[in-house]
Amino acid sequence: MATSKEKDFGTPESTLQGLVSLTIDGIPIQVAEGTSVMRAAAETGISIPKLCSTDSLNAFGSCRLCLVEIEGQQGMPASCSTLVGEGMAVRTQTERLAKVRRGVMELYISDHPLDCLTCSANGDCELQDMAGAVGLREVRYGFDGENHLDLEVDSSNPYFSFDPSKCIVCSRCVRACDEVQGTFALTIEGRGFDSKVSTGPGENFLDSECVSCGACVQVCPTATLMEKSVIEHGQPEHSVITTCAYCGVGCSFKAEMKGNQLVRMVPYRDGQANHGHSCVKGRFAFGYATHPDRVLKPLIRDKISDAWREVEWDEAIAFTANRFETIQAEYGRKSIGGITSSRCTNEEVWVVQKLIRAGFKNNNVDTCARVCHSPTGYGLKQTLGTSAGTQHFDSVREADVIVVIGANPTEAHPVFASQMKRRLREGARLIVIDPRGIDLVRSPHVEARHHLQLLPGTNVAMINAFAHVVVTEGYVDEEYVVARCDPESFAEWREFVQRPENSPEAVAKVTGVDAQQIRAAARLYAGGPRSAIYYGLGVTEHSQGSTMVMGMANLAMATGNIGFMGVGVNPLRGQNNVQGSCDMGSFPHELPGYRPVTDDTVRGTFEAAWQVELDAEPGLRIPNMFDAAIAGEYRGMYIQGEDLAQSDPNTQHVEAALDSMDCVVVQDLFLNETCRFAHVFLPGTSFLEKDGTFTNAERRINRVRPVMPSQTGMAEWEVTQALANAMGYPMNYANAAEIMDEIAALTPTFSGVSFDHLDAVGSVQWPCNEAAPLGTPIMHIDQFVRGKGKFFPTEFVPTEERTTRRFPLILTTGRILSQYNVGAQTRRTPNSIWSPEDVLEVHPHDAELRGIVEGDLVAVSSRKGETTLHATLTDRVPPGVVYTTFHHPETGANIVTTEFSDWATNCPEYKVTAVQVLPASRRTEWQERVHGEKAQVVRI
Ligand code: SF4
Ligand code: SF4
Ligand code: SF4
Ligand code: FES
Repeated sequence: MATSKEKDFGTPESTLQGLVSLTIDGIPIQVAEGTSVMRAAAETGISIPKLCSTDSLNAFGSCRLCLVEIEGQQGMPASCSTLVGEGMAVRTQTERLAKVRRGVMELYISDHPLDCLTCSANGDCELQDMAGAVGLREVRYGFDGENHLDLEVDSSNPYFSFDPSKCIVCSRCVRACDEVQGTFALTIEGRGFDSKVSTGPGENFLDSECVSCGACVQVCPTATLMEKSVIEHGQPEHSVITTCAYCGVGCSFKAEMKGNQLVRMVPYRDGQANHGHSCVKGRFAFGYATHPDRVLKPLIRDKISDAWREVEWDEAIAFTANRFETIQAEYGRKSIGGITSSRCTNEEVWVVQKLIRAGFKNNNVDTCARVCHSPTGYGLKQTLGTSAGTQHFDSVREADVIVVIGANPTEAHPVFASQMKRRLREGARLIVIDPRGIDLVRSPHVEARHHLQLLPGTNVAMINAFAHVVVTEGYVDEEYVVARCDPESFAEWREFVQRPENSPEAVAKVTGVDAQQIRAAARLYAGGPRSAIYYGLGVTEHSQGSTMVMGMANLAMATGNIGFMGVGVNPLRGQNNVQGSCDMGSFPHELPGYRPVTDDTVRGTFEAAWQVELDAEPGLRIPNMFDAAIAGEYRGMYIQGEDLAQSDPNTQHVEAALDSMDCVVVQDLFLNETCRFAHVFLPGTSFLEKDGTFTNAERRINRVRPVMPSQTGMAEWEVTQALANAMGYPMNYANAAEIMDEIAALTPTFSGVSFDHLDAVGSVQWPCNEAAPLGTPIMHIDQFVRGKGKFFPTEFVPTEERTTRRFPLILTTGRILSQYNVGAQTRRTPNSIWSPEDVLEVHPHDAELRGIVEGDLVAVSSRKGETTLHATLTDRVPPGVVYTTFHHPETGANIVTTEFSDWATNCPEYKVTAVQVLPASRRTEWQERVHGEKAQVVRI
């Protein structure tokens, strides 16, 4: 499809219900109350010239180009900032208006470089379009007077440039940064002729508060703010609508292309998860997909000490099949398995789990969700009946109280964070429960009412204290509970939470948070009236991760906060398709759609469809695979798109397990850390080459469309299919759409999904079936999926990982905006300019005790191991807590994490590791051995 711009209605759609009748240029129309005259005209097909307005921003009324005449009114009001009125008669085209508009344009053009033909925006410039629209043919004023034509270009941002000589000071960029992104990085400095866009006194874009979301670039009507990729490659020629491959927000983009060259990613206005917004990763950090580090040919080797040998696909597939078959012949059917990837499409995941169940004939399949959100699946299924969040993102627009627990949305889910911040600016109140002072606690125009800075590992105690206040102070929504919840479990829970050990006063001692503050926050949540919980890995990656998920669901049910707009229990899931990889049956005990492998009826359905007998016994989870490998019983593994050696806890143990196997197969874009232990490397495809679907954190199934041919010559599912065939289990899908058809046929919550349906309606949130052909934005509306909502007592059990005199600090981990997970993608983009290495945040008090100053190399040691990082001193962390990210392999953050994990799901306890931090003089032996020079990163 061509890169035709979507229609810009000039001002946002009105949310009011009533209708107003008026005429525009004699045409009678009816529009929603609160609509601007400009938008009413646009909806009628009449374009009024404009410069400072665009429909993603509130009207501003500064350019005076959009003037109209209204019968009975004096003067010429701006149509963007004038609302329609009953009986109004508007004229948009008169001689007088034309003359004034030409005069306005003439003034703009007289201070604008006339280099249209060589300008990178030529053909995509609203100033140019408007000059044509108003019929400007000559400019009477010369360029001799004072002008802005010599102002210097700011090229500091790696992705876009700012050329102030082309700026018409329309303020769209400033308003986009304020209203859409919520960062408030830009301002208009000076007055009159001297007014100009500024990033702050003496600051360029790179040094400013700007987070490079690109919203300002997108709305700029001129070439002032311009993507460098467009300057380099020229204007795009065609586009494809697809989905970002980074985080669980699942933003839709128009990938704008010139031939097979991706020129830019433009957030898609009709994208139902992002509504035309994006973050730096999705919009700009796509260069990894065509990075020269990509391996495009299969590689094999007999032993991991051998050099890789590049081979054709046939040889790689035959080699792999032979290895796996030999292992199974010698060690048994269950001696091999694999893991699916949350970075891959639903269709790619489906075929891998099918290969394992039907081809390997066992259930040794797991997924990287094991190490992030498996407690979400477990906890929400137990209490509410389904393994997913309750709301769509738009629900936050009606929340009155927002609780953010163990999540850092501005860094990890930035587009949703912008939507949340908008609601907070409108007056919703915020409670942050986090050991760290995340940005949301205090940022421009946003301030949390309560920041409960609890000790890592004490979430469950905190949620119990909230519940205690709800139950003992009369905040239970009795009517809701009676109508919708299981009475026995509620009675048991009520008795449990009102015990003295769950009172804020008792819990204060455990969490380190003042009891009165806990009480006030709990009352705020309970009083809502609409209260929503958003949470992340700071909830799940604990030994009581599943307990905490159930605790939040209990609280939401007791206060009647599930089943409508503005409420809910909402996991902010990390990876682009972590929801999907779980839905697709990637767990060893569950077939697709979260149905037990032990259930004969369910298994029978799959056996009939797949024409194979399936194992009725659950398979191994990732940690059990590692243990079995070390025990010599598990000897072969197909690893789809995950860097286990870097992302899983207790690196030494993981490396020992991988080292024990006879056949490790890695399917990925790059040779990652795990490849040090691999015998086969099957090159994967980037999202730009994939055809399929991703399911985001709100259960939304979005299409991923190929914008260029596979660089490896094979789609990833074709490789898996070839391996299945080579191992004697026939698979013969002709395309990814056929895989989705099979998913729909075998998974009740997907029964209405097909590529055709998604192409027709954009996206759907599962369940999508006959009862809900357009999907289900909000779940549990009239009743819970499981019938009656079930309460579970959630006793707080402290983690076994305790601080001691030897390891007196708690290390906790998280993400930053510019990097993504293990960094395999973002480290291969200019994003590294913002975060060239992982650093350790240390409170100044702890630093002083240890003689550590800003930028020092420090050794972080735990019971498990030691690594080194550079320290940065900050009071974002409280005394006693240190924090780092895990985006760079040479950091080896997981060298120090422990084997403790969630009691129900084995999700590792990444968020709590007792450590000591001391000044260091050199990198560890592991860092030097494995990463050599790379480990000698620059001192910050
Ligand atoms: S940079 Fe662009 S959007 Fe911003 S004021 Fe100038 S012309 Fe308008
Ligand atoms: S890129 Fe985003 S954060 Fe930076 S100035 Fe523009 S709108 Fe603001
Ligand atoms: S918020 Fe997430 S999905 Fe959206 S552009 Fe950023 S990384 Fe991509
Ligand atoms: S578009 Fe209305 S004043 Fe600029």
